[in-house]
Amino acid sequence: MDKRKQLRQQIRRLRRALTPLQQQQAATRLLRNMRCRADFRRARSVALYLPNDGEINPEPLIRLCWKLGKQVYLPVLHPILHNRLWFLPYTPKTRMVRNIYRIKEPELIPDQRRAAWSLDLVLLPLVAFDAEGNRMGMGGGYYDRTFSFKNRKNGMRGPDLIGLAHEVQRVDQLPIESWDISLSAIVTDAKSYP
Ligand SMILES: Nc1ncnc2c1ncn2[C@@H]1O[C@H](COP(=O)(O)OP(=O)(O)OP(=O)(O)O)[C@@H](O)[C@H]1O
Ligand SMILES: [Mg+2]
Repeated sequence: MDKRKQLRQQIRRLRRALTPLQQQQAATRLLRNMRCRADFRRARSVALYLPNDGEINPEPLIRLCWKLGKQVYLPVLHPILHNRLWFLPYTPKTRMVRNIYRIKEPELIPDQRRAAWSLDLVLLPLVAFDAEGNRMGMGGGYYDRTFSFKNRKNGMRGPDLIGLAHEVQRVDQLPIESWDISLSAIVTDAKSYP
């Protein structure tokens, strides 16, 4: 098995082993570390995710966004355009369905779609990260493809991208690939990186 795959399995096991209490504390600490950030406060549209596979839970942040009148979006897997994410609005009234990974997502209503480049802030999950702010995801390349326009020279600036993770997901150094999107920060239950 290759090294990336092995590392993914190891870290996914670590985060799945966190107890419900540890998960709840981490979510509260994450909220505290995010809410004071200038990039969060000025963002009017914010994309987040619903937690899966032991990922740090951003639901308290989602509720704060609603309270502050920010527009909240969730990623949706497009059934035909493989490997790219669409973003649909998420409110307490949104009808949810399960995607091929059994993760809940808003029902796909094409004309409600929000273009990825037009979001202010995207808070994305990850499997492993290092202190330099490098990110490794689940291996689908979904976020990398969706935001690849940011890596191009003269590309659009697009949204700020911030990775969210448990502190236990940090590794010494991550091998990065040319297609990996660069993040402006990674925020954990303990602190912000870099
Ligand atoms: N911009 C891109 N264009 C074409 N293929 C890409 C692009 N970005 C990533 N890929 C492909 O996607 C596959 C998975 O990439 P990678 O291992 O970096 O996923 P990841 O970062 O873990 O996943 P995700 O982005 O969903 O969090 C790779 O084989 C890579 O070739
Ligand atoms: Mg990647």
